[in-house]
Amino acid sequence: MSNRDSLEKYIRKNLKDRSFYIVTNREPYIHNKTFEGIEVTRPSGGAHTLLELIARVSQGTYIAHGAGSADKQVVDKNNCIKMPPKEKLFTLKRVFLSKKELEYFYYGFTNQTLWPLCHAVFVKPEFNPLWWESYKEVNRKFAQTVLDDVGDKKAFVWVNDYHFCLLPQMLRESGKDIKIGTFWHIPWPTYEIFRVNPWAKELLIGLLGSDLLAFHRGYQAQNFVQSVQRELEAKIGHEQSKIVYKEHLTKIENLEAGIDYQEIVDLNNKGKTIRRSFMTKLFGMDIPFLILGVDRLDYTKGIIERLKMIDRFFEKHPEYIEKVVYYGIMPQSRFHIPAYRAYAKNVTDLAEKINWKYSTGRWVPIHYTLNGLSGRDKVFQYYKQANVCLVTSLDDGMNLVAKEYVIACDAEKGSLVLSKFTGASNDLRYSTLINPYNIEEGADAIFKALNMDPKDRKIRNLKMRKELKERNIYNWAIRFIEKTLYE
Ligand code: F6P
Repeated sequence: MSNRDSLEKYIRKNLKDRSFYIVTNREPYIHNKTFEGIEVTRPSGGAHTLLELIARVSQGTYIAHGAGSADKQVVDKNNCIKMPPKEKLFTLKRVFLSKKELEYFYYGFTNQTLWPLCHAVFVKPEFNPLWWESYKEVNRKFAQTVLDDVGDKKAFVWVNDYHFCLLPQMLRESGKDIKIGTFWHIPWPTYEIFRVNPWAKELLIGLLGSDLLAFHRGYQAQNFVQSVQRELEAKIGHEQSKIVYKEHLTKIENLEAGIDYQEIVDLNNKGKTIRRSFMTKLFGMDIPFLILGVDRLDYTKGIIERLKMIDRFFEKHPEYIEKVVYYGIMPQSRFHIPAYRAYAKNVTDLAEKINWKYSTGRWVPIHYTLNGLSGRDKVFQYYKQANVCLVTSLDDGMNLVAKEYVIACDAEKGSLVLSKFTGASNDLRYSTLINPYNIEEGADAIFKALNMDPKDRKIRNLKMRKELKERNIYNWAIRFIEKTLYE
């Protein structure tokens, strides 16, 4: 089983004189101005949680967009600051974007073109040439930041996600000795969807600058290979995992991301929460069963479908009134985008409708917060108390919440109900799998999860934990680096 030490040893032995870089949009620490002074927080969830753990071990440089109101104030003249605040293990190098770049690059091309294009959720992507121009410019800006920092050294660059399709080719064209591994965290669509994008070719060529391009799942990798096959004149290896384009070889792999099993176990052991006071504080009374949802408020997460399942569950099982409560931790996300604002309104309207339908005066079924939780350890208290965790994504590259819940829940009391359309469903086969569009099936799954024999629950959770323990984040990182470095 790999751990921090084995990753550290692996990096030292194999990267030798190559400097280690991570390039990603979301920074792992954000400095904001508050009345009390400058506050450092960690943005909730997502791939940056994984990347930060890897950055700590590598002690390399983490290049990301500086989004906080005090981010500029705290960096040195090279836009760098050592992080985490106390341990100071790696360098966070911030790239600052203008408001226009933010609007066109982040809110525009990445999250209104690529995000809906890649998730099969029937939200139409928008194709705006101004956004595309900005996407190219911002990719160039990040690439230049890497190249300036690398100078004459050798480097290893871990490129993260759909924000930086063009960056791998830009690095390659510099002619420097850089090994480039790109990890794509979201689904890759079928060719029939991908082809509508006017810049399909450029995006593919950009990604093929990588030595390794990895996805969570085989079907995502296959979709990518098919897109290349149909769009570009590239040589595709017999087993489809190698593509040669303009004499450069890119390996295409599926490497599902794991999480830091031990970190979760340690966080979980930290504080003891008393169930009665936890429930009373949140809901004003001690309720026997808690159903939990933890997602960014995003239309890919199937939150409307989830609320409909809960509604249907109470319709079918009124004996659970005042006995079950749902708590949604759903921090608002990408709120400048009209589709996100509309979605947030639809979700909160539906919650209100369901609450009105069932409320008894002292009890309502649906509770939620639109804020993230302060501190990573907080969410684990919820995981520990939750009898059911509902993950209902309509399409999802992986879904790390599902994996975290399985490790952190009470093995005899906690059940995961999981959408079949998450990458995580392959690893979590002993959860209760559902099609999130099938509301009836979802309602029945909630009932089943609440009524499962504790012994059965425990067996399922322990089987899943065993796999998660072995195929953890360090194992993932080692495999990723290995496949980038060596043919
Ligand atoms: O799912 C891919 C991902 O990059 C996650 O890491 C993260 O949760 C999200 O998408 C990005 O969110 P944001 O736009 O808030 O950075």
